[in-house]
Amino acid sequence: MNKPTVLVTGGAGYIGSHVVLALKESGYPVVVLDNLVYGHKDLVESVLQVELICGDVCDRNFLDQVFRDHNIGAVLHFAAYTYVGESVEDPAKYYRNNVMGTLTLLEAMIAADVRSFVFSSTCATYGPPHQIPITEDHPQAPISPYGMSKLMVENILADFNHAYNLRSVRFRYFNAAGADPQGRLGEDHNPETHLIPLVLMTALGKREKISIFGTDYKTPDGTCIRDYIHVTDLADAHVRGLNYLLEGGETSVFNLGNGDGFSVREVINTAKEVTGKTITIEESYRRAGDPAILIGSAAKAEKILGWQPQYADLSLIVEHAWQWHLNRHG
Ligand SMILES: NC(=O)c1ccc[n+]([C@@H]2O[C@H](COP(=O)([O-])OP(=O)(O)OC[C@H]3O[C@@H](n4cnc5c(N)ncnc54)[C@H](O)[C@@H]3O)[C@@H](O)[C@H]2O)c1
Repeated sequence: MNKPTVLVTGGAGYIGSHVVLALKESGYPVVVLDNLVYGHKDLVESVLQVELICGDVCDRNFLDQVFRDHNIGAVLHFAAYTYVGESVEDPAKYYRNNVMGTLTLLEAMIAADVRSFVFSSTCATYGPPHQIPITEDHPQAPISPYGMSKLMVENILADFNHAYNLRSVRFRYFNAAGADPQGRLGEDHNPETHLIPLVLMTALGKREKISIFGTDYKTPDGTCIRDYIHVTDLADAHVRGLNYLLEGGETSVFNLGNGDGFSVREVINTAKEVTGKTITIEESYRRAGDPAILIGSAAKAEKILGWQPQYADLSLIVEHAWQWHLNRHG
């Protein structure tokens, strides 16, 4: 099969850039679309070496031009705002970018007769868990505008499949973590809110301390437990999801997680071992809306996409992230 050109929105960001690398390595021609609000132009140019089109998914005329200029066969959509706390403060910003931006992109796709779509959804669409591990049929009741913006798009995709035959794969990620094992790419959010990079920045001396929010949860060491999934495993799942759609697979949704959880203290202790550095901890109060345990079941992705995490080991996830941080910020 001749591989079609894939448009990757948000391909200059953390997860999108790793997926671009995996797509290239699987033989797909790739075009990246990113407005560079958070993306890294230098990485697209020096590492990914694919065409970067700078522009906004909310701009319909721009999108129509992109589809006219490129013979796009499928779209992988990572472009979104991702800060849960900010979404509570400024929900309009999130609904505009994440919902209206995606709707604009989907309409442009249909106008250009492109009907295969892979979407970055999130475990934040589930809200507080009723059972662990969380499976795809768990009720969805997000507690932040960010989670709600992703759920709204999920619902739009179900309707668009029915009405316009636009087939999609929705991936609900748990906590993306780690970096390209060869050190070419990694996580570089600004501001950074994710635990592993924050701990590593503390190890590097770029931050004074790491805060633990809540030490009295009903977990073995009292701190929250989360499911960390290596970004390279996520990337592999996206290539499989794309292949699945291009082979005629029907619209579907898959959790992407390790099926295993690690506590905040376990992450910090692992980082101490991997880096050999002192990491100062500050114990703080619980944050509103943080469930004690979030672990996903990825059994469906394993069964249907033949996907299995290759880097499930926490030390490996932290080790890869550490190598990246040393190179980028050390
Ligand atoms: N990082 C995680 O743990 C995680 C977990 C669940 C879901 N997700 C989802 O995965 C996707 C990627 O997350 P990430 O961590 O790589 O974020 P990121 O911020 O690193 O990447 C997002 C990219 O999208 C671009 N972008 C944002 N709005 C845009 C717009 N209107 N037009 C064009 N480009 C735009 C940004 O410049 C950035 O490069 C997001 O949709 C996010 O909601 C991430």
